[in-house]
This record gives sequence, structure tokens and C-alpha cells, in this order.
Amino acid sequence: MSTHQLDKKSQAWSALFSEPMSELVKRYTSSVFFDQRMWAADIEGSLAHADMLAAQGIIGAQDLADIQRGMAQIRSEIEAGTFEWKLELEDVHLNIEARLTTLVGDAGKRLHTGRSRNDQVATDVRLWLRGEIDATAVLLEDMQRALVSVAEKNVEVILPGFTHLQVAQPVSFAHHLLAYVEMFARDAERLADLRRRVNRLPLGAAALAGTSYPLDRERVARTLGFDGVCQNSLDAVSDRDFAIEFTSFATLVMIHVSRLAEEIVVWMSQNFGFINLSDRYCTGSSIMPQKRNPDVAELARGKSGRVVGHLMGLITLMKGQPLAYNKDNQEDKEPLFDTVDTVKDTLRIMAEMIGGEVAADGSRSGGLTVKADAMERAALRGYATATDLADYLVKKGLPFRDAHEVVAHAVKDAIALGRDLSELPLETLQGYDARITADVHEALTLSGSLNARNVLGGTAPVQVRAQIARHHQRLQA
Ligand code: ARG
Repeated sequence: MSTHQLDKKSQAWSALFSEPMSELVKRYTSSVFFDQRMWAADIEGSLAHADMLAAQGIIGAQDLADIQRGMAQIRSEIEAGTFEWKLELEDVHLNIEARLTTLVGDAGKRLHTGRSRNDQVATDVRLWLRGEIDATAVLLEDMQRALVSVAEKNVEVILPGFTHLQVAQPVSFAHHLLAYVEMFARDAERLADLRRRVNRLPLGAAALAGTSYPLDRERVARTLGFDGVCQNSLDAVSDRDFAIEFTSFATLVMIHVSRLAEEIVVWMSQNFGFINLSDRYCTGSSIMPQKRNPDVAELARGKSGRVVGHLMGLITLMKGQPLAYNKDNQEDKEPLFDTVDTVKDTLRIMAEMIGGEVAADGSRSGGLTVKADAMERAALRGYATATDLADYLVKKGLPFRDAHEVVAHAVKDAIALGRDLSELPLETLQGYDARITADVHEALTLSGSLNARNVLGGTAPVQVRAQIARHHQRLQA
């Protein structure tokens, strides 16, 4: 038996080595217990490579058939959970290749012709990530649909809009939710854009310099559904921008989720009482019997931290690596995998908690409960319509800065009286400016304030409904 056989790896890499690898080093360098999740991409990439090798006459038709048969067998073993992953075979690539050789002999040993694990692993990660990108895109759409579904039921529900978390101006609750839809829509754009750069083929770069075999890289790219091939072999094996770009995208998603989660936590607090969450998304306390805690939102907010950390980790991983491949790159996987898991799980659970569970016919059940009365009561505290009074005076001819000052006096007096501006008698208001007439009270209502903001992108219900229609159009399945 040849000493070059892969399953002899537990002893030494090749005839060059005079002793086996230390046990510590084996464990330290092995990645198979985390990179095995890329097994399907590894097999798919190998089959495309083998198909091209045969088409180019580099391996025989029988070799290709053997490789295909062996890979089918390996696929079913992995799916059945009977495949034996071996730490000493280091990674997913060597584990699958060794098993292939055991199953089909020499054809298995020919598979690696014109290829290196360096271009193989880069191909696998890209293929795997592409699948996850497509799954994430669906979840991002679901999240937007969940928000739009709650928004369309709450266009006329008014809550205080805040700046500095101080009551600022009344806004439609739908308008507030649609702000998050904008964020997730931008995330979706970023995802579609970065997908184009993920979806390029490194195979053919071999270890770093290309290969002396007459490979047809375009054919492999077509087989695997890549948009193109990496144009520089050194870059092809060493580039991990795609992992950083995805993690950067995921960081923004998680930051958006985290802001929304923070609002949900605040809204759910007794001191706001703006919303309620179904019991199934809340947890209790082991000591305080009255508690219902919004743990899901808190965890989503908390999990943004680990994704931010992964972004920092990946960026730092690449800093200072000379061309081309370095083993450092093996460290791209755990952060990337965890980022994918975290962003997908978080989007899924948050969308469901907010918009409810979606049945097969598209109907929704559950989701967050809006307490419109509490929102409205809060909007009536804090002089949210003060700007409306100023705007009213401006329309009557007062310069805005003067109107601002007049209203400041009115608010000061109203605070002393413990009343809202709308509760001040007309004569009192006329005391601040004689131009004030009976129509002022309409301007000082919450709905009057909302309706007045009838500018593109504003909170007037007519504008909000137009936005909802646009989102429906955009998110059509
Ligand atoms: N497990 C390795 C990784 O994840 C595969 C590439 C190893 N290449 C090498 N020349 N050691 O990056």
C-alpha cells in the first residue's frame, strides 16, 4: 500500500515526514468538527471539478463515474449519520476524500488533480454561504412583512414620537414600524449586492499560482451556478472579503433588530404599557410571581454583541496576512457560521413574535398586541402638539422664531395649570396672540397634528397608507 494514501495521515503527511504529528497539534489544527457543516458544498464542488476534469480528458470517464458513485454513497452516509468523521483527517475536505478513496480506489485519488485545499475551501465557503444568503434574504422579507402586517392595522393609532426619549411630536404607530421596514429593506439591498461578490469561483487557483492542467474554470463556474471566476489565483485562495462583507451586513441587521428589541422592551414595561406580547414569547421569574419578561427581545438585543464581535474578529484575522493562503484563514469559519446562525434565528423569532405565526394560506395568528389607549394617553402628555401651535401661528403670518417663543410661554403656563394646550380656553390662547381663532383646537388635536404632516415620508395617515401600499408591492412573493 502506498504511503501517500490519505488514511495514513494519522501517521504522517508524506514520506517527507519522519514522525507523526503530535496529539496536541492534531487537535489544535483540526477543523473537522466545525467545518463538516460544509459537507454538501464540498461534495458539490468536487463533483463539478471531476466533471470538468473528465470533459477535459484529464481523468477518464470511468474515474468520473466512480467518483460520482462514491460521492452518492458518502452523501447518504452523512445524511444517515453513519459517516465517521475523523479528527486526525483534519477537515471536511480530507475526510470526504479519504472515504472516497476507500470506496472507489484510484479514482478517488485522482479527484484532487489540479486542485488544492486552498482553492477547495474557498469554493466551499462561498457555495455554502450563498445558500445561507438566499435563506437569509427570505427571512429578511418575512421580517418586513411582519412589520407591515402590524403597521396596516395601526395607521390611525397615535403614540408620542420621541427625540432624546422626550415626547416630541405625535406619530402614527404604523409610521414608527415602517421606519424599521426601511432599515431591513436596506439590509436586503446590501445582501443582494454582496451576493454578487460571494458568488465567484476560486477553483482553478490551486494552491496559489494556478495549475499546469488544462482546466476549464468557466465550465466549473457554470456547473456550480457562480456568476464568474476569481481572476487572480493569489487573491482567489486568500480573499475572505466575502465573509467580512456578510458579517458586516449581519452586524447592521442585528443592530437594527437590537434597536427594535429595545423599543419592544421599553413599550412592554409597565411605565409605558404600549404593547403586550403573547405569553408564549415571555418568561416568568422564579421569585417574583407577577413577572412576564420580554426575554426574546432582550436576547436579540444581547446577541447583536456577538455578531459585532465576529466582525471585529474577522477583520483582525485578515490584517497582516501576507499573500497567499495562510492557516489563519481556517479561523474564518466559526465566526461566520455563528453569525449566520444568529442572524437567521433572530430574524425568524422576532418576525414571529411581532407579526404572529403565518399559516399556509398566509393568515397570521398571535403577534404583538397594540394598546392604542395607552399610546394615545402618552401622546397627550408632554405637549406633543406644541409645534403645531407654532405652525398655526406661522400660517397666520407670524415669523417662525416668534411663534416658537409665543408657544414656549403658552406651554409654560399650561404646565403650571396642569393642562394640555388643547385644554386651554380660546380666550387664554388669544392672550398669547390675537390671531388665534376657534380653528386652533383642531390643529392641537393628535389627529390634526398627524394629518398636517402630509409630506412625502411624513406621518400623515394618507402618506403612511401610500408607504404601506409601496411595501406590499415591493414585498410581493
Ligand atoms: N481546513 C483548511 C481551512 O479551513 C483547509 C485548507 C488547508 N490548506 C492548507 N494548505 N493547510 O482553511
